[in-house]
Amino acid sequence: MNSFTKTLFCFLLSLFALAAAAPVIRDVFVPPVTYPHQGTVWYVGQYHNVTWETAGAPVNITNKIGRVVLAKGGIEDINNPLATNFSILDGRVVVKVPDVEPGNDYAIVLFGDSGNFSPNFTIKA
Ligand SMILES: *[C@@H]1O[C@H](CO)[C@@H](O)[C@H](O)[C@H]1NC(C)=O
Ligand SMILES: *[C@@H]1O[C@H](CO)[C@@H](O)[C@H](O)[C@H]1NC(C)=O
Ligand SMILES: *[C@@H]1O[C@H](CO)[C@@H](O)[C@H](O)[C@H]1NC(C)=O
Ligand SMILES: *[C@@H]1O[C@H](CO)[C@@H](O)[C@H](O)[C@H]1NC(C)=O
Repeated sequence: MNSFTKTLFCFLLSLFALAAAAPVIRDVFVPPVTYPHQGTVWYVGQYHNVTWETAGAPVNITNKIGRVVLAKGGIEDINNPLATNFSILDGRVVVKVPDVEPGNDYAIVLFGDSGNFSPNFTIKA
């Protein structure tokens, strides 16, 4: 073997090693929330569809079970989810606006594989 062939051979071998060592990763799907959006106003006690984009969902999603949590000022109220145990592929889930203090720094956090924040919106009494 001349040195060029050797180098090429080594290069191909390392490529093969890289491919063989690549871990099997499940597809992480973090759909963006489309409603509520900036400017949305909800009133305590109302029911609303939280909606999100499902286009582009990979075939093998790690976690299909969704959860919706309310956040205020960026702090998630994980102990009182607004919705649980729905499919992240549904694209929407109905939530009841909880009896919280009025504010304009609320956000919806959609959890599947990981959390995705909606823009901040307003809740009124
Ligand atoms: C949520 O969306 C579904 C389907 O579009 C509709 O039938 C239902 O009335 C909506 N619910 C609320 C509370 O808006
Ligand atoms: C999804 O997972 C199945 C079984 O684990 C596998 O056969 C299939 O090739 C995967 N599809 C994709 C697109 O990753
Ligand atoms: C929402 O408000 C919180 C706190 O006021 C802020 O940290 C966060 O960046 C805001 N989110 C967006 C999307 O503007
Ligand atoms: C979640 O939903 C599935 C299917 O609708 C149901 O079989 C299961 O019992 C539910 N789990 C919980 C913890 O509510």
